[in-house]
Amino acid sequence: MKTAKIGLLGFGNVGGGTYKILTDNADLIESRVGVRPEVVRILQRNRNKKRLVEASPALLTEDPDDILLNPDIDIVVEMLGGIEPATSFMLQAMKNGKHVVSANKAAIAANYKLLTETAAANNVEFLFEASVAGGIPVLAAIEGSLQANDFVEIMGILNGTTNYILTKMTDEGLSYDEVLKDAQEKGFAEADPTADVEGLDAANKLSILIALAFGRYVAPSDIPTTGISKITPADIDAARSRGKKIKLIGQASLEDGKLNYSVKPVELEASHPLAGVNNEFNAVYITGDMVGELMFYGKGAGPLPTGSAVCGDILQIMRDMCK
Ligand code: HSE
Repeated sequence: MKTAKIGLLGFGNVGGGTYKILTDNADLIESRVGVRPEVVRILQRNRNKKRLVEASPALLTEDPDDILLNPDIDIVVEMLGGIEPATSFMLQAMKNGKHVVSANKAAIAANYKLLTETAAANNVEFLFEASVAGGIPVLAAIEGSLQANDFVEIMGILNGTTNYILTKMTDEGLSYDEVLKDAQEKGFAEADPTADVEGLDAANKLSILIALAFGRYVAPSDIPTTGISKITPADIDAARSRGKKIKLIGQASLEDGKLNYSVKPVELEASHPLAGVNNEFNAVYITGDMVGELMFYGKGAGPLPTGSAVCGDILQIMRDMCK
């Protein structure tokens, strides 16, 4: 039996979801790929946190070097969140010849060039589908089936927490604070939800989308960004009276060779395809010069949808390892 040895950096929401999929669906994965995924080490930083799934204590470690320097490990999966130490860990893994999968939009958006160039220089794969719009396979589509297009515009609801908050405020008249707490309990929100509600998380994801679709790196801090923390029930009612809905939209478009981009609350016509995207769901609405308009829709947050995208990347690497 062929196995791929996997080390997980992080055992929170996404780490737990990824571990559950790799273990619950190990037979299915082996039958599809011809290689069995085997998680051999898990870096767990907070032992006392409530977990989605338990792992054998023998797998758990508090020392990242047990994974980064482990000669048996083929694939390192980074799900720590935050720019550091995640970026340094990924670079170290690549330099040690390990393929890297990451769900970490903040680290990738901040260090896109360094990470992609280091992976290429060390002849390892670096895949990060889960970093944008959770379970939606939008990066694979941009780099795969859509790669013959010149992209004209990308518009997305890229943050599940803010979409959940806006939906509950709009449909149930709940207060901002009540819904934020609920989103945190459901595992959508970042550890510090400021990144969600101020639009920074959406800006990280838009930066990654711009890099892949338009071939340009725009730092998240250079994307004009406004969040939803100042949206009031009165704003929502006023939009409703005009037949509109407020959504936090990340947008990038090319006009006469100039790339425009922003993250901000936008009043969408109720008939716009993105206006019907509710709760923690995300959607990415893409216009390509040849394909026209497309919309990708699905869960943008949560342990299993995000874990699904992480595992898709792991399986892709497992297939490539067999070539
Ligand atoms: N906090 C993020 C969100 C998690 O709410 O969309 C997924 O990236």
